[in-house]
Amino acid sequence: MHLASRLDRLGTETAFAVSLAAAAWAAKGHRVYPFHLGDMNLPTPANVVAAMDRAIADGRTGYCAAAGIAPLREALAADVGARRGLEYSPEQVVVQPGGKPVIGKFVQSVMEPGDEVLYPNPGYPIYESQIEYFGGTAVPYRYLETPRGFALDLDHLATLITPRTRAIIYNDLQNPLSAEATPEEMAAVAELAVAHDLWVLSDEAYFEMRYSGTSTSIASLPGMQERTVILYTFSKKFAMTGWRLGAAIAPAPLAATIAKINTNDESCTAHFVQWAGVEAVTGDQAGPAALLAELRTRRDAAVDAVNAIPGMHTARPEATFYLFVNVTGAVESTGFHDVSDFATAALERTGVSFCTRRHFGRPQPGETEHYIRLAYSGIDAADITDGLARLGDWIAG
Ligand SMILES: Cc1ncc(COP(=O)(O)O)c(C=O)c1O
Repeated sequence: MHLASRLDRLGTETAFAVSLAAAAWAAKGHRVYPFHLGDMNLPTPANVVAAMDRAIADGRTGYCAAAGIAPLREALAADVGARRGLEYSPEQVVVQPGGKPVIGKFVQSVMEPGDEVLYPNPGYPIYESQIEYFGGTAVPYRYLETPRGFALDLDHLATLITPRTRAIIYNDLQNPLSAEATPEEMAAVAELAVAHDLWVLSDEAYFEMRYSGTSTSIASLPGMQERTVILYTFSKKFAMTGWRLGAAIAPAPLAATIAKINTNDESCTAHFVQWAGVEAVTGDQAGPAALLAELRTRRDAAVDAVNAIPGMHTARPEATFYLFVNVTGAVESTGFHDVSDFATAALERTGVSFCTRRHFGRPQPGETEHYIRLAYSGIDAADITDGLARLGDWIAG
């Protein structure tokens, strides 16, 4: 039977293959240290769970509005706006089953087939997949490693804009790089968007996942709110990855379009889950604070352990829960040429499981260094120290 040719353009998250390999290795009786998936081994705050129980007991189990229940749209408009110094109306908030659906809904709303969309590479792999699936041309932009972490290559970005460029996908506090823009860098991206009249998808999945300082949304820069869609998610801040709750926050006409796509796709996001979302945003915030404190302990354990390993180094990011580690020296000293072979050997020799640069988009011309991503959201601090010590012992030979 024939399958539609557009499916050839649909990508995936190859990181899930790493989970399978890790599970297969564990099933053979080996100890695995899971640094591969951006999932969390921390519970959703109890007040949020209780709110969902109440919603079900109260019979909030039927369909609801495609754009979301009014109390959640109101709560998000107020909270997201206040944290970014912006005003949003509830009509601009369209509830989604997770943050991820915002990517495809944005792309299909603003892009004609053949249009070009700029996206970060290394970056979250679903950008490339959705742009190409909806018939666009995915144009990767890159980051450069600096002593303070990764910085967007602005000169390169500017050269990528053509008359066909329609949008830029921007993910400050970036997965997998944990890159955080300087004010100058973010202003330069905003200026390009305004000068070339581009739509912007600002993926703010990690906006509140930070250990010091404050986050800035590109939507708050001059001329940006009216061209920016914010991807908001409950997954990380409230440890709700499996609940599937997020939102698109967009200029009003685009919000209405995205709500219409909701009607066609899923009708509405699970009704009782949305009531739990109201509690998450407006209720007691002790849960997210405790979660961040735990992640900070893990970050410090991971950074210290990585930088003690010969041939590996990382900066200490102030946001997200990923380290994008330069392992060029370690790959070479263990006799490998390919970072994927290095990753397979690391799993088999030490039980440490992680993604590599290859899982975050097609490598670009001129890349010479090797990188891996360590996610520390799904592994306790003691296991981080133990696993990375094993990795270090193997690399030191
Ligand atoms: C950068 C980025 N954007 C979006 C998402 C989507 O998350 P969710 O669909 O769980 O909200 C993720 C998840 O890992 C992510 O890392």
